[in-house]
Formats: sequence, structure tokens, C-alpha cells
Amino acid sequence: MPIALASVVPWGRSLDEYARMFALTPGDLASSILDCAGGPASFTAEMRRAGKQAVSCDPIYGFPANQIARRIDETAPEILERTRRTSENFIWTEFDSPERLVESRRDIMRLFLEDLPAGLAENRYRLAELPALPFRDREFDLALCSHFLFTYSNVLGLEFHTASIRELCRVAKQARIFPLFPQFGTERSPWVSSVTSQLRSDGYQCDIERVPYEFQKGADEMLRVSGT
Ligand SMILES: C[S@@+](CC[C@H](N)C(=O)[O-])C[C@H]1O[C@@H](n2cnc3c(N)ncnc32)[C@H](O)[C@@H]1O
Repeated sequence: MPIALASVVPWGRSLDEYARMFALTPGDLASSILDCAGGPASFTAEMRRAGKQAVSCDPIYGFPANQIARRIDETAPEILERTRRTSENFIWTEFDSPERLVESRRDIMRLFLEDLPAGLAENRYRLAELPALPFRDREFDLALCSHFLFTYSNVLGLEFHTASIRELCRVAKQARIFPLFPQFGTERSPWVSSVTSQLRSDGYQCDIERVPYEFQKGADEMLRVSGT
């Protein structure tokens, strides 16, 4: 079902943040990567500039860049306000204030918006949504999913999470998911233990690993899953 742009709060992170959130090694960065739920992150734009291979998929890529830009303008003040109200749940070292965070995110999203038209033409941005992706089995070495699975645990259930991770492992040799906390949450999503037990009992290898990235307090772990 097509997503309504008005239901999306576009918010994007950079290649440097992805590298830390997912503990990406030089070998990982040289492999073929899918950024699933990539949204307005600059990961794929920056990978392209660095001469590396990445594809992002997201339901918002069905909208033109100017509509996505407008939605970013509409929602940035709401995010600023919510981040100010919950600022004690974040670590303010990398970004020293909610205002600087929003400024930095807007620069990152600008890189994405500039790259979007060329990236669509080159098939680097693909309109797709979990739990069913339009890619071949093992088309990618690595599938990354930042701030979507577990982040929206309040609205996306256990079955959706399990099916989505299986799908990421169908299209890539390995999937990595970050963070394991819900949005504005202070502890792991309740789905993490059930999803990993289910997947392990089906023969998937699941490892929770500490990574060198922590903005949401305590949320410094990613889930690495390899298929059967
Ligand atoms: C908070 S953003 C995260 C963007 C990016 N991954 C990052 O960390 O900067 C969440 C993204 O999930 C996308 N999304 C919503 N429903 C989805 C679905 N069913 N499958 C894949 N992505 C979805 C939204 O359009 C949005 O771009």
C-alpha cells in the first residue's frame, strides 16, 4: 500500500554515522550494500561520491524531491521541540544542542535531496517497503536498517519485525539493524528477544554487538543476522 508522505517524519543520518552505527569495516564499505528504510539519509549519496556501491530503498522515493523537501521543512520544528523536551535521553557530545542537531540533519538531508534525481535514474534509490522487497535472493552482501525496525515498536508488531528481518536476509548475505531501542525510548524494544529467539530457532545466526555510536542514551548496540 503506498505510504502517505504526511505520515512520514523524514530524518536522515550521514555515512560517518552509518559507519559507526553498523561497525562498518573497509571491507564492508567495499561490498555491495542495501540501505533499507534509507529515507533522507546521505549514506548512498556519500557512498556514490566515494566511488562505492550502495542502493537505498524506502517508500518515500515515490515522491518528488520538492515534496520531500517541503515535508522536511514542515516536520523539523516538531522534531526540534520533541528533542528539547526529551533532551535528557540523549548524549550531547557530538551535537552540542538540539538546535545544532537539527542544523546538521538538515545539511545531511540536503546532500540526499541533491543526489535523489540522479540516484533515481541510476537505480540507486528504489521505491520499496518492508516486509517485501523487490530484490533478488542475495543480491547484496549487506543490508542495513537504521532507525526503522525496533524504532517504531509502538506501531510495528513482532510478526512484522520477524518477517522484515527474514526478508533482509533473503536479499543480502547479512543484515544489520540499529538501534535496538524504540524512538525516544530508554531500553531495548520488547521485540528484540522474541525476534532473535524465533530467528535462532529457524537456524539464523543472531548476534547483538556493541558499536562505537551512542546518541540515544544506552542505545549503542546493533543486531547482526545471517541467513540460513
Ligand atoms: C527515521 S527514518 C530513518 C532514515 C535513515 N535510515 C536514517 O537512519 O537516517 C525511517 C524511514 O523508514 C521509512 N519507512 C516507513 N515504512 C517503511 C517500510 N514499510 N519499509 C521500509 N521503510 C519504511 C520511512 O519512509 C523513513 O524514511
